[in-house]
Amino acid sequence: MSEMILGMSGIVKSYADGEEQRCVLDHVDLSVGAGELVAIVGPSGSGKSTLLNIAGMMLSPDEGDVAICGRAVSHLPQRAWTKLRREQIGFIFQNHQLLPHLTAEEQLTVMLGADRNATRELFGELGIANVATKHPAQLSGGERQRVAIARAFATNARLILADEPTASLDSERGRQVVQMIRQETHQRNKAAVMVTHDQRVLDLVDRVFRMEDGKLIAA
Ligand SMILES: Nc1ncnc2c1ncn2[C@@H]1O[C@H](COP(=O)(O)OP(=O)(O)O)[C@@H](O)[C@H]1O
Ligand SMILES: [Mg+2]
Repeated sequence: MSEMILGMSGIVKSYADGEEQRCVLDHVDLSVGAGELVAIVGPSGSGKSTLLNIAGMMLSPDEGDVAICGRAVSHLPQRAWTKLRREQIGFIFQNHQLLPHLTAEEQLTVMLGADRNATRELFGELGIANVATKHPAQLSGGERQRVAIARAFATNARLILADEPTASLDSERGRQVVQMIRQETHQRNKAAVMVTHDQRVLDLVDRVFRMEDGKLIAA
C-alpha cells in the first residue's frame, strides 16, 4: 500500500431542503494513495462537488473524518486549516477562478510566491509559455484552464482536487488536461481526485467511483 494522501471515512453531509434535511453524502469512505489518480462520476446533484469541497477543507462534514497526508484535520484550529489547505491542496475549479487584474504568471508568482523561472518552466511544460504575460481576458478557455492547472501544480501540494476540469474544453483539449493531471500525479507521487462527466477520459485514471444516492461505489 502506498502512502495515504487523502483519507475520508464515514463522511455525512446534509443540506436543509425546505423543512427537511436532505442527506447528500451518506457515510462515504474514500482513500487515495500517493501516485494515484481517481475519478468520481455520477449524475448532476449527486454530491460530487460537496465531497470534493470536504476533501479540500473548504467545507466541514456533519460527521466523519478527513485526513490529509496522514493527519486528521477535524479537530485542528481554523488557522491550521488555512495553512494545510494552502500548502497541501491544489484545487482546480471548473471555472478556473483566475484573478482578472493579474497576468497568467502573476497568478502563480504574486498569489503563491512561486519562483518566476520555475513558473516559466511549468508554463512551458503545459504548452502555455506564450501567454505568461497576458491577462485572463486575453486567453482562450483552454489556456485559462491550463494556467489554473499550473497554479495547482506550482506549490508542493500533495493532493490535487479537480472539479470537472474538462467541462469548458473540447474533447482533445479535455484529454490533454487529464493527461497533465495524470502525469503530475504519477511522476511527482501526488494524489488526485477528479470529478468528471466526461466518459472519454476515464481510461486515463487509475480508479473510478460513482456517486449514487449519497453513496460512493467503486465502478
Ligand atoms: N450550500 C448548499 N446549500 C444547500 N444545498 C446545497 C448546497 N450545496 C449543494 N447543495 C445541494 O446538494 C446536492 C449536491 O450538490 P453538489 O455536491 O453540487 O452535486 P454535484 O457536484 O454532483 O452536481 C444538490 O441537490 C445541491 O442542490
Ligand atoms: Mg458539481
